[in-house]
Amino acid sequence: MKDRYGRSINYLRLSVTDRCNLRCRYCMPSEGILKENHSDILSFEEICEIVRVFVKTGVDKIRLTGGEPLVRKKLPNLIAAIRRENTIRDFSITTNGILLKQVAKDIMDAGISRINISLDSMKPDKFHRITQRGNLKDVLDGIAEVRKLGFHPIKINTVLIKGFNDDEIGDFIDLTRNEDIEVRFIELMPLFNNWEYNKSHYMANTEVIERYPELIPVTCSDRSSTALKYAVPGYLGKVGLINPNSHKFCSSCNRVRITADGKMKTCLHSDQEIDLKACLRNNIAMEEVIRKNIFLKPSDHKLETGKYVMRSMSAIGG
Ligand code: 5AD
Ligand code: SF4
Repeated sequence: MKDRYGRSINYLRLSVTDRCNLRCRYCMPSEGILKENHSDILSFEEICEIVRVFVKTGVDKIRLTGGEPLVRKKLPNLIAAIRRENTIRDFSITTNGILLKQVAKDIMDAGISRINISLDSMKPDKFHRITQRGNLKDVLDGIAEVRKLGFHPIKINTVLIKGFNDDEIGDFIDLTRNEDIEVRFIELMPLFNNWEYNKSHYMANTEVIERYPELIPVTCSDRSSTALKYAVPGYLGKVGLINPNSHKFCSSCNRVRITADGKMKTCLHSDQEIDLKACLRNNIAMEEVIRKNIFLKPSDHKLETGKYVMRSMSAIGG
């Protein structure tokens, strides 16, 4: 359905857990953040019910997020249930890749067709430093596995962190030389728990273009895509630039989010949350609540006013 500004809202980002097996410095403190109680997390049945209503309103694209979605137990069963009960054109997942090798085949068989893997460094020691615990080899094995299984497209998400991985931009671009994959550089977004970090490590994506003039813009068929697409002529893959700060994409935003504890968020950067779990658990007609709030989706984010959302990324689900 359309919101009051005429945007078609057809994309649901669904967080299936607030837990994560990494502690990326810009996302979480090393001791972790307060986790939701298990009973506050939506059950598979509740998730399916929510998805069913969103599909009724016109959602045909779903992405599973977290925390780290692959740490949710029996995730392939949830994927299969969502697939079975709904017509979904595009069903994807964003993962940090740590558990990917083990579960890639199961999630593919269950119905996931596209995958985004987060990777901020290709050097083992740096990877361990930024994630505060991860083993790079697990992620690389996961990427090799999804390539072998034939997932397409495969996208690598790299958050640009000044003084940390800006020396690896060329290496990431090089991944697109012989493989039809998309490497996407994401500008670090300010959230309440990382603004100090953000101030000293933020780097605008425009720097990527300045430093790598061989990147040439390519046209993109998906108008609601948040990435500006580039490619090095002759390379098989593409490079995407995601600029939530320097290039606002709110006017073509087609998405809504559900947090693991069942809150609907119509804007990533707004603290407004609509409690769908309460609807489900108290028999309140959820469809009307969802329709009303899709309609009222905010026009744009207000990051430039310095107002940052009070949840961490792991609690929102990217
Ligand atoms: N800014 C930009 N990207 C972020 N991610 C997590 N926190 C932030 C942030 N503050 C990224 C992760 C992953 C995706 C889910 O979101 O690195 O690629
Ligand atoms: Fe890192 Fe993503 Fe986990 Fe946050 S949720 S700690 S960004 S892997």
